[in-house]
Amino acid sequence: MAEHPAYPVGLRLTGRRVVVLGGGQVAQRRLPALIAAGADIHLVSPEATPSVEAMADAGEITWTRRPYADGDLADAWYALIATSDPEANTRASAEAERDRVWCVRSDDADRATAWTPATGHSEGVTVAVLTTNAKGRDPRHTAAIRDAVVAGLRDGTLVAPHHRTRTPGVALVGGGPGDPDLITVRGRRLLAEADVVIADRLGPRDLLAELPPHVEVIDAAKIPYGRYMAQEAINNALIEHAKQGRSVVRLKGGDPYVFGRGMEELQALADAGIPCTVVPGISSSISVPGAAGIPVTHRGVAHEFTVVSGHVAPDDERSLVDWAALARLTGTLVILMGVDKIGKIAETLIAHGKPAGTPVALVQEGTTATQRRVDATLATVAEAVRAEDVKPPAVIVIGEVVTVGPRTSA
Ligand SMILES: C[S@@+](CC[C@H](N)C(=O)[O-])C[C@H]1O[C@@H](n2cnc3c(N)ncnc32)[C@H](O)[C@@H]1O
Repeated sequence: MAEHPAYPVGLRLTGRRVVVLGGGQVAQRRLPALIAAGADIHLVSPEATPSVEAMADAGEITWTRRPYADGDLADAWYALIATSDPEANTRASAEAERDRVWCVRSDDADRATAWTPATGHSEGVTVAVLTTNAKGRDPRHTAAIRDAVVAGLRDGTLVAPHHRTRTPGVALVGGGPGDPDLITVRGRRLLAEADVVIADRLGPRDLLAELPPHVEVIDAAKIPYGRYMAQEAINNALIEHAKQGRSVVRLKGGDPYVFGRGMEELQALADAGIPCTVVPGISSSISVPGAAGIPVTHRGVAHEFTVVSGHVAPDDERSLVDWAALARLTGTLVILMGVDKIGKIAETLIAHGKPAGTPVALVQEGTTATQRRVDATLATVAEAVRAEDVKPPAVIVIGEVVTVGPRTSA
């Protein structure tokens, strides 16, 4: 008889009786998906692995501790036959055939009436991969296809735009510090689905080059703002594009809510009645020191780290930072946007009692190909910035953590 391809289907098992014979590794691997499907699971097996036993203890399955007996499949919609006794498996699959219960058999796919596909999930979609017929069965190959599809959907390299459930409005996406691998999976997917991307100078700019040609990429710094403030012009551009029904991504460096004006943009969108999703990002405040071999905390050295904006000098009346209090802290101080004002900042910290010899590191363009690290102390940092020509963007780390790691050549 010619071998026909298997017919793929999704079983909706909620509340329906499913019988599992055998409590070994196969059951252990398959049970979580059956539990997730809401099935009413009855396990028949004299023994079970500790994980399967834990599922029974947690009430996720009902366990009858004995070997398979004829009649166990009564009233089942679906059966998984996976005992270590081939003879029992044969008898059970004969019962399944007789009672018209679809069954998978771990020891003999040829005799099974159903096969379990390699499955994975991504954003509301289940990817299930089966070989077409028994002859071509190669579980590693189907698993590899599943992995490739799921990974591609997650990271956006496999572009499959949602048409009915596409995220409406604007997504404020934290792009991470610059390395394109350091954006979140969700951020990357939204980027792949966007019609318009409004991007900052900081962040993973390399990702923009990968976008399909129909995607309009707008440099936030170049939006003409006329009589508006630059930020207002960006907000207006977000609103206008979203109002045209386009899927808009506002790609920001690091995390949108760490000195990123994320909430200002979200509020402007809310005022205009535009839905907005916020996707967190890896902030440069932690990741850039880390990329240069500096942990922001270290056991026995720093039990806290404080992230501060250094964009205005300590004596500037607009400053909201209590530098005197910071000078008293023993933990790590991380300063963003502080390259221009580091001289004044260091002077102020020393004046309020921070030792002049406190180690300082400046990490410029962290996580990118041009990353570099310059080391100094509070007393020497202003001169080091001049001598080494340190330029923004840079993260400045002040504290003993600077010296705990092996000195890298970052
Ligand atoms: C406007 S703030 C935005 C911070 C961002 N939202 C975050 O969470 O990383 C910009 C500052 O972040 C720091 N920064 C961002 N990316 C950086 C990078 N790759 N290397 C060094 N500093 C970076 C610099 O201090 C820069 O001046």
